[in-house]
Amino acid sequence: MSPKKQSAYAVPKLTNFSAKTLGARSTELRAALEEEIRRLLLIQTAGGLEHDAEWKQRWEECKALRDRWVARKNGIVTQLKDLWLNPAPSDKKSEVGRRFNELKTHIEEEVNRAQALLQRMETDDQNAIIESDPSGHFGSYDEALKSTQGLDITLPGIRHPLGAEHPVIKTMNEMVRVFRNLGYSVEEGPEIETDYYNFEALNFPPNHPARDTQDTLFMANQESKPLRDRLLLRTHTSPVQIRTMEKMKPPVRVVCPGKVHRNDAPDATHSPIFHQIEGLAVDTNITFCDLKGTLDHAMKEMFGSSVRTRFYPSFFPFTEPSADVQISCIFCGGRGYRDGGPCRNCKASGWIELLGCGMVDPNVYGFVDYDAKKVGGFAFGMGVERIAILKYGVDDIQLFFNGDVRFLEQFA
Ligand code: DAH
Repeated sequence: MSPKKQSAYAVPKLTNFSAKTLGARSTELRAALEEEIRRLLLIQTAGGLEHDAEWKQRWEECKALRDRWVARKNGIVTQLKDLWLNPAPSDKKSEVGRRFNELKTHIEEEVNRAQALLQRMETDDQNAIIESDPSGHFGSYDEALKSTQGLDITLPGIRHPLGAEHPVIKTMNEMVRVFRNLGYSVEEGPEIETDYYNFEALNFPPNHPARDTQDTLFMANQESKPLRDRLLLRTHTSPVQIRTMEKMKPPVRVVCPGKVHRNDAPDATHSPIFHQIEGLAVDTNITFCDLKGTLDHAMKEMFGSSVRTRFYPSFFPFTEPSADVQISCIFCGGRGYRDGGPCRNCKASGWIELLGCGMVDPNVYGFVDYDAKKVGGFAFGMGVERIAILKYGVDDIQLFFNGDVRFLEQFA
């Protein structure tokens, strides 16, 4: 049932500006405002509406009320100015002006108060209210409205919970800051990529077994397109290397943070969605020593200056030579044992594998029109969740994605 539409209040034109008439018209206006607010707060929405839809309707009514009374263009306050204040004869101007200011303040306060009250109604546990008031008229708020007519400083305040950075984003920002301080800039790329950028230009030829190391989510119905144009969800941030080199000439120093996707079943250490930070430096005279120095510095910034790094031979199609970077175990200090037993975090090895890197394979430069004889560089890629897990001692990657505030607020 929708609220009974009563004829809306219209500001009367004033011809008589005596104190008596002004008083009477002001009282009428105040009563009309009070009635409209009362109707807003007790509004019954059409039966059967979902909770969200109901509140949407209430907030629309609230906005309409605000517009009707205080909108600058043709709100009632503006009309009061046009119909009461402006036409007042000069000897009555100051009295009408005083009334006008009084009414304006009153209207603004009441509209704000109505909005705050509506907010409180929404914040409160509505089910409890509906249960205790099966007719659903929010009768108790009728009372509350009468209490708010004066300022009741004993009422509980309106909570506006503050949000906080998600631990993954926080870790990503910290990592990006480390590289920004080294002079790197930030580049981003699309999450939906073509086969060309995700694989081919990174030196993964079609059907090459290296593609199997990344369980890829492909878009459906792409078979009619040439392979290089087929769409997929990027499996790593490495395609941003290609996109960057296509639009920038050396020297290049960029980090590329972003979300990536793999066809992995979620468990304590896997998630089909996670985040990476890619790095790329291309210039003349860049050596493997620069790569080692840069990553050693970044790991010390991230995990503390006592952390050591080691580079372990590995393979990635787009780097040659390639390496996995390991850091000395931050739980046992690299000793391999802790509390009289083997360290579980590093499986007693004293090292934890953290990221992949290498010198950019000259074949890659061929795809972006760089002269492999003149320039060289290094690249690296790391998982953000993995770093956050180590840094904060989290034992299940799923905690980052479940949206449980009790977990998340610990990082605020
Ligand atoms: N893209 C690789 C992956 O997701 C990580 C990686 C390894 C990135 C070596 C690099 C690199 O830039 O040089 O497994």
